[in-house]
Amino acid sequence: MDLVIGPLDLSAHVDEALAVQAVAFGLGPDEVAVRRQIVLRHMTHPGARALGATTAGRLVGFVYGMPNDRTHWWSTVVEPYLRAGGHEAWLDDSFVITELHVHPVYQNRGVGRRLITTLTDSATEPRSILSAIDIDSPARGLYHSLGYVDLARQVHFPSAPRPYAVMGAPLPLRRRGH
Ligand SMILES: CC(C)(COP(=O)(O)OP(=O)(O)OC[C@H]1O[C@@H](n2cnc3c(N)ncnc32)[C@H](O)[C@@H]1OP(=O)(O)O)[C@@H](O)C(=O)NCCC(=O)NCCS
Repeated sequence: MDLVIGPLDLSAHVDEALAVQAVAFGLGPDEVAVRRQIVLRHMTHPGARALGATTAGRLVGFVYGMPNDRTHWWSTVVEPYLRAGGHEAWLDDSFVITELHVHPVYQNRGVGRRLITTLTDSATEPRSILSAIDIDSPARGLYHSLGYVDLARQVHFPSAPRPYAVMGAPLPLRRRGH
């Protein structure tokens, strides 16, 4: 597969990225409109970075993240859950994976693994954290195989219908076969 992983100007390509997320994750038009504003705001945060997976000029996957900031909404929601389990230190010097999505047609070919590994390889932080819907999903399977462990389960984000798990991994992420 002629697929290129490289830096993505997510602000300029937000609609293409959300089109991928809409089919991968299942978002309706109203949710896409809300996410659009959130993504554009996230891209103004210091250290926010995105990578895209492109084939024949078409975006088929993307990842983005940023250094954790305890004042960010996501961090304030997960903080009490991490504190309750003695994992609060994961919020400091940590690179947050905010979104990772691969178009269903291109899934299970190592694209998601390449995206998240390449993005975190360029992070200066010694660890990474993220949240994922708290079910046995391909996303959770991928994160576990990269060395992410559960730091909190059944985390409720206001407005999200399903609970999330918060996961953390040391950087660099674990390679295949280790
Ligand atoms: C999560 C996602 C980005 C992974 O992208 P991908 O390109 O398919 O991932 P890869 O091919 O690199 O890796 C697939 C890995 O997923 C895991 N996986 C795949 N199917 C799985 C399943 N049914 N159960 C458990 N783990 C599974 C495996 O660890 C697999 O790795 P391996 O086959 O190399 O051992 C993609 O599935 C996706 O976009 N899902 C929908 C959106 C989503 O949930 N995003 C994450 C939000 S937190």
